[in-house]
Amino acid sequence: MSSPFAGEKVRIVEVGPRDGLQNEAAIVPAAVKLALIERLAATGLTHIEATSFVSPKWVPQMADHAEVMHALPKGGAVRYSALTPNLKGFEAALAAGAEEVAVFGAASEAFSQKNINCSIAESLRRFEDVMRAAQSAGIPVRGYVSCVLGCPYQGEVPPAAVADTAARLHDMGCHEVSLGDTIGVGTPEKTKRMLEAVMASVPSSRLAGHFHDTYAQALANIYASLQMGLRCFDSSVAGLGGCPYADGAAGNVASEDLVYLLDGLGIETGVDLDKLADAGDYICGVLGRPTRSRVAQAVMAKRVRAAAVA
Ligand code: HMG
Ligand code: MG
Repeated sequence: MSSPFAGEKVRIVEVGPRDGLQNEAAIVPAAVKLALIERLAATGLTHIEATSFVSPKWVPQMADHAEVMHALPKGGAVRYSALTPNLKGFEAALAAGAEEVAVFGAASEAFSQKNINCSIAESLRRFEDVMRAAQSAGIPVRGYVSCVLGCPYQGEVPPAAVADTAARLHDMGCHEVSLGDTIGVGTPEKTKRMLEAVMASVPSSRLAGHFHDTYAQALANIYASLQMGLRCFDSSVAGLGGCPYADGAAGNVASEDLVYLLDGLGIETGVDLDKLADAGDYICGVLGRPTRSRVAQAVMAKRVRAAAVA
């Protein structure tokens, strides 16, 4: 039976070096981050979120943001972006050569306070400052909305609140709004109801899905989002990740699992699954723990069997 998505294209935004490594207890050296990013760039990925220009007191794992961003090759096939919560972060990202930045807001007041130490309204004012500076520097700005399917502090988050923050980010000029299931509590029908509310004001072509995999629902939620018209998804190699201000949140959906799903649906991503598994193997080796990607485990096991036969 043919896939309803055959021949379509999906863009993957690899967030492992940022969303993944920001949540590792160990501080990964900049040289390792750069070696990981180089391997990711070799897979055919076109968008890699490399770091975040946030306070080193809040997220020490990203304290080497300027060193990492400076060292990356610019103007090539891969666009390297960074999180910037305010003007200070934006100016540092620009000085380090970031080609795209992302502001990150929330649909939950409680999460906004814990994550960026201000209200949603205040965060949007700060993002407007970032947007003005970015527009005059010719830098595209992506927007995130966190807690779109639940909040670790507030619990339920109404779809209308998600739609409100998403519309504000879109209206201020974000070229894309990524909808974050920060703690990975969503399920497919809930995802669809949330998307229906958001899509009343932001078209699906300007939305991305950012699913954490705490309850192993990320791929199901991505499939539901594909049915709703989304064609951009964020993922982390080896399923690295979490969020330092969302206790218990698991990693993002693994990039390897996402690519396997999309390949199977006949959707083009331009990403080579074997090379992605190699990149995941590299960082898991450094971290000293196994990959969270079931697909990467299967790819590696198949290689071991093939080597034993040869
Ligand atoms: P604050 O303490 O309210 O800020 O932090 P402040 O303006 O009062 O400044 C306090 C200190 O921070 C000052 O330094 C500033 O210079 C410095 P001091 O005088 O004490 O030495 N500062 C900065 N330093 C570096 N870069 C900056 C910056 N701004 C101020 N940009 C702030 C406000 C937003 C900075 C802080 O709360 C922070 O850094 N939070 C970290 C948030 C974060 O990184 N969270 C994780 C990423 S979001 C996420 O993972 C969700 C996502 O994946 C989507 C999803 O899954 O839902 C995107
Ligand atoms: Mg996230």
